[in-house]
Amino acid sequence: MKLFTTTAVTVVLSLILIDFVSTQLYQKSINWDNRAQGQYTDAMAKADFGSVSGWKNDRASISDGKLRITLRKNALGGESGIISNTRIPDGSAYELDFDVRFHSQFDWSRGGKVGFGFGIGNRNTGCNPPKDGAGGTLRLMWYNDNKRVYFIPYVYYYGMPGQCGDKFGKSYPSTGSIEKGKLYRVHMYVKSNTGNNANGHVQIKINGEVLIDQSIRWTTNDSKRLINNLSFHTFRGGSEDHWKSNVDSMIYYDNLSVRQISK
Ligand SMILES: *[C@@H]1O[C@H](CO)[C@@H](O)[C@H](O)[C@H]1NC(C)=O
Ligand SMILES: *[C@@H]1O[C@H](CO)[C@@H](O)[C@H](O)[C@H]1NC(C)=O
Ligand SMILES: *[C@@H]1O[C@H](CO)[C@@H](O)[C@H](O)[C@H]1NC(C)=O
Repeated sequence: MKLFTTTAVTVVLSLILIDFVSTQLYQKSINWDNRAQGQYTDAMAKADFGSVSGWKNDRASISDGKLRITLRKNALGGESGIISNTRIPDGSAYELDFDVRFHSQFDWSRGGKVGFGFGIGNRNTGCNPPKDGAGGTLRLMWYNDNKRVYFIPYVYYYGMPGQCGDKFGKSYPSTGSIEKGKLYRVHMYVKSNTGNNANGHVQIKINGEVLIDQSIRWTTNDSKRLINNLSFHTFRGGSEDHWKSNVDSMIYYDNLSVRQISK
């Protein structure tokens, strides 16, 4: 009888433990406060992020407890900055927050990708729209239209118009420009859709103001509907020369927090 009771208790406790482990949702916070001044290497990035790819030691450093990325002069894309990705557990909804500040001497030039974002399924980027309904990405850009400088959403999803990321005609701020040396707090939320339905969601808020907030059909193939990458893409471009700058420029990041909302 005693043996039976002990066994039963063990089984019940195990089931509770299995249930607890299987319902754990991914969560990651990095604020770089405990990192010393100087280069922020691939090994440090791996220790903080996990399976991070594409890190560039010569462009990443720690400055007063913040991550500082240097965009190199006369270069575009991966040559100018960092195109890095971190595998995160498959999830049907995720959110993130981070702080970003452009150095007081930053050269806007035309624009580029900035900060963290999410990849879904095959994670289409690079003017390769997901015509097969098998991938998508949500990223942020800064953009200079020669009248003002602002943040825009940069989104790849099924049925998007054109070849390159969709901006949805949106900008932050809606009038006037973003400023060098000022801190912007970015919030992103992504929810997968199901089947052929536009019941997914895309949201970006900056300093609490909505840049984009709407339903979306990311994918049409349910085996590719889940969010699986945290992107950190910080580079100039665009592909034409007018996206380049003839000076090195720096962007600061702080207080990254990523949360899986549902499996
Ligand atoms: C997703 O992230 C992992 C790094 O953990 C990387 O190996 C993989 O290439 C990424 N996928 C894409 C399409 O960027
Ligand atoms: C959905 O994706 C899976 C995995 O890549 C693939 O085998 C399947 O053919 C795709 N389905 C459609 C309808 O494209
Ligand atoms: C990051 O968060 C800390 C603590 O919440 C705050 O004191 C600090 O100002 C934040 N850093 C930036 C650059 O916003």
